[in-house]
Amino acid sequence: MYQKMKGTYDITTEIQYFHAVEKAIQSVSRLFNYQEIRTPHFEASELFHRGVGEDTDIVGKETYDFKDRGGRSLTLRPEGTAGVVRAYIENKLYAEKRVPQKYYYYGSSFRYERPQKGRFREFRQFGVEAFGAKSGELDAEVIAYAVTLFRALKLKNFIVHLNSLGGKDSMSRYRKALKEHFKPHLDKLCEDCNRRYETNPLRILDCKIDADTKPFKKAPKSIDHLTDEDRKHFDTVKAALTAMGIDYKIDHSLVRGLDYYTDTVFEIKDTSAALGAQDVLCGGGRYDHLVESLGGPSTPAVGFGIGIERLIIALQAGDFPVPEPSVHVYLLTLGEEARIEALKIANMLRLGGISCETDFLNRSMKAQFKQSTHHNARFVAIIGEEEVQNQTVNLKDQKERSEETLAVQDLYNAIYEKLTGKQDDCNDCEHKKGE
Ligand code: HAM
Repeated sequence: MYQKMKGTYDITTEIQYFHAVEKAIQSVSRLFNYQEIRTPHFEASELFHRGVGEDTDIVGKETYDFKDRGGRSLTLRPEGTAGVVRAYIENKLYAEKRVPQKYYYYGSSFRYERPQKGRFREFRQFGVEAFGAKSGELDAEVIAYAVTLFRALKLKNFIVHLNSLGGKDSMSRYRKALKEHFKPHLDKLCEDCNRRYETNPLRILDCKIDADTKPFKKAPKSIDHLTDEDRKHFDTVKAALTAMGIDYKIDHSLVRGLDYYTDTVFEIKDTSAALGAQDVLCGGGRYDHLVESLGGPSTPAVGFGIGIERLIIALQAGDFPVPEPSVHVYLLTLGEEARIEALKIANMLRLGGISCETDFLNRSMKAQFKQSTHHNARFVAIIGEEEVQNQTVNLKDQKERSEETLAVQDLYNAIYEKLTGKQDDCNDCEHKKGE
């Protein structure tokens, strides 16, 4: 028997959670005025090397790289930002008149990581990217988007971690300070940290091996090396978050594991313990040089990514109500003619938005009643020989425990009224005719 690959999984009953999250994403994106963008699952490997950064764990250790039959070096996307930025440049979206240009995306990403709870090799990432404005208020609005989504999903146990790396000047001061700090400890640091000391000392702070050692705990803080301008930007972010009633915690250890960040960086962590070590639900920040470094015009940008599986694990531990699959009407049939009549009636009801299920196995009445409960049907419409003859239906309302015989042509109106408490106001629609 074939088995799924390590770090992947099949979505079966959890699909209800995915649908609930996807619905919330669409409505919150509408509220914050983000348009959906869909980009390919694979891109030229070079895009991620240049975009995410050679020294990051993601590019150095975790990408799925392969050569296609034409000999091209390709990579399954490990995250969404690089592809969206490529699309932004290639499609000249920067020329659009609306500014900022705000996009959201949702889909599989792939990282060759050690699988554990909340960490997969294929996972779904939802993200947003806002281009064209260097503004602390926009950074705060992007964070507010993630918080609004979590609140819409009734998530309560989370906290925003916030830090600032500053722009190019602040970061070069900070790199210098990090080098001075780590220099006397190099012999105690791992091989990767020694390499990163030379190539990009900021990445030393991502090390999972040395993270708990003393030099790490006493490492210099990025906010102590910000230029006045960058400090002002960060102050604006904090003031805007406070004004919106969003609590945050300044986290000096937060540098994020991707190279493109400048200024604001943030993570939103689940505090319910449902996720264990993989408690970061959302990670993001500002990246003012990525568009230019990938060949586009100089364009400031900010965004975040959310791991959908992690979000769903957190939702399952909380009190988010997820409906069981159900249908409005189960059409219970007795005899061959009734089965055809049921299909005709189901067609009519479905045209008007009423969902239906029926029997395809010629089962007994008792078995069909059982099926109606398995399908969580609110109504059971019984159709026998007599009903076919008289063009009627015997309708049982399982919720109100009532029963009535109705003409087929009155069936739609009766069900619609019971479901919505309102009268349907269209008069001559197909779904009412029953012909
Ligand atoms: P990231 O922190 O690498 O950032 O990933 C964002 C989120 O994706 C994480 O917080 C986590 O919830 C989820 N995630 C990452 N790896 C896995 C995995 N192996 N299994 C399950 N979930 C995972 C980015 O990817 C940036 N592109 C975010 C961004 C957008 N920054 C600016 N714009």
